[in-house]
Amino acid sequence: MTDPAKHGQLRTYGRRRGRPLRPHRAGLVQDLLPRLRVPQRVLEAPTGSVDPRGLFDPAVPEVWLELGFGGGEHLAAQARQNPGLGLIGCEPFENGVAALLGRIAAEAIGNIRILPGDGRPLLNALADGRIGRIFVLFPDPWPKKRHQRRRLVSPPMLDVFARLLADGGCLRLATDDPTYAEAMDQMLAGHAAFERCGGGAGWRPADAPVSRYEAKARRAGRVPAFFEMRRRARSAAHKG
Ligand SMILES: C[S@@+](CC[C@H](N)C(=O)[O-])C[C@H]1O[C@@H](n2cnc3c(N)ncnc32)[C@H](O)[C@@H]1O
Repeated sequence: MTDPAKHGQLRTYGRRRGRPLRPHRAGLVQDLLPRLRVPQRVLEAPTGSVDPRGLFDPAVPEVWLELGFGGGEHLAAQARQNPGLGLIGCEPFENGVAALLGRIAAEAIGNIRILPGDGRPLLNALADGRIGRIFVLFPDPWPKKRHQRRRLVSPPMLDVFARLLADGGCLRLATDDPTYAEAMDQMLAGHAAFERCGGGAGWRPADAPVSRYEAKARRAGRVPAFFEMRRRARSAAHKG
């Protein structure tokens, strides 16, 4: 198992930049991103001190979080389907952030906030039990044995998700890497805070818009594994 403190410092993502941004997208990064980005003071706030509902104006009743949104297909679709909620997306890949900004601008989506970077400092700052759903869809698989400690989904990260989710809140994971799927399966089965509410061979949630990475995996003939977990009520988890 990876030491929780050390895991927080390991780089879990690949490149931060791809091709130079086209002028329209570069303009969105310059003009729109500052209005939507999670403020730096939030990232520097003490552990567990920030209520994510207050990051939206007006404040929203419930917040969902996507870690590693890639090009933002899934996040934008969820935001459209759930206009009364707030969604926070974290993504260090600049071209992915710019692609999401393009969707937000084209579709006039008003309920997304963005952290254009590693999501872990934000997770650390957020208060306990204030997130309704967490999505980690196709995190970098790091298939080589010596790289596997870089995987974003790890036992310490599941503890963080369990802290952040409200009782009855939902964690959705997906991967197309069979060794990662097996590791997720084992980690989740051994975690007292979660109970399974979906998953298994060939299962796919009905309300999950297809992300770019999922589409690519299916075109290549890989069958993704999805895991859907409900956060147990805290009193029940404490009883054991
Ligand atoms: C394989 S891509 C999948 C993207 C998207 N979820 C999809 O399904 O198309 C994994 C993404 O996770 C992002 N990522 C990795 N580590 C992260 C972290 N610590 N915080 C936020 N995003 C991260 C990467 O930059 C990358 O864009």
